[in-house]
Order: sequence, then structure tokens, then C-alpha cells
Amino acid sequence: MEKVKVLKLSEITENTSKLVEIEDKKIAVFNVDGEIYAIDDTCSHAEASLSEGEVFDCLVECPLHGAEFDLKTGEAKTLPATQPVVSYKTDLDDEYLYLEVGEDA
Ligand code: FES
Repeated sequence: MEKVKVLKLSEITENTSKLVEIEDKKIAVFNVDGEIYAIDDTCSHAEASLSEGEVFDCLVECPLHGAEFDLKTGEAKTLPATQPVVSYKTDLDDEYLYLEVGEDA
């Protein structure tokens, strides 16, 4: 498991999201009321970008067919998605966000 510096915290303001790419993985990073979450960007149902979805109650709604995923766990909460997306452990210092990525992430 590798800890990777992802972005400056100033780049992701409160209640916004951002798509980042690390080692060929597309990861959606969300700032929800100051809490940072990171999950795979590609919806487990089809090819939609979850970083473009609407966020509410710590869930993101897929912009294509509306499946909802838990930002903390990646769990698919509503159809049509049935499979989870990977969630990543986040770590912050005063200035940067780090994610743990690796084979078993
Ligand atoms: S692509 Fe996300 S719900 Fe269909």
C-alpha cells in the first residue's frame, strides 16, 4: 500500500468534488462540509464519472442513471448499481491530501 500526495487542500473547496488520476486509476475526491472522501470515479454500473454526480447525505448520485454510492465505503445503496466502487483511505496534513492506493486498495 502506497501513500500518494494527491492535491493541495486549497484546490478542493468545501462541497465540491474533483477528479484526480493516480497510477492509471481515476479517483473522485469529495469535500463534504470539510470532510474529505475518495472513491473510484467510474460508476460500477456503466461508464459514468461519479465526480460529476450530485452529493447529499454523504452519498453521491451517479449522473447517468441515478444509482447512489456511500462516499465513506463505496457501497452501492440504490439500483441500478449493485456492485460497490473502491473507497480510499484519506490522510491530510496542513496543506495536502494523501490517499492510500495499491494492489489491494
Ligand atoms: S452508469 Fe451509474 S447508474 Fe448507470
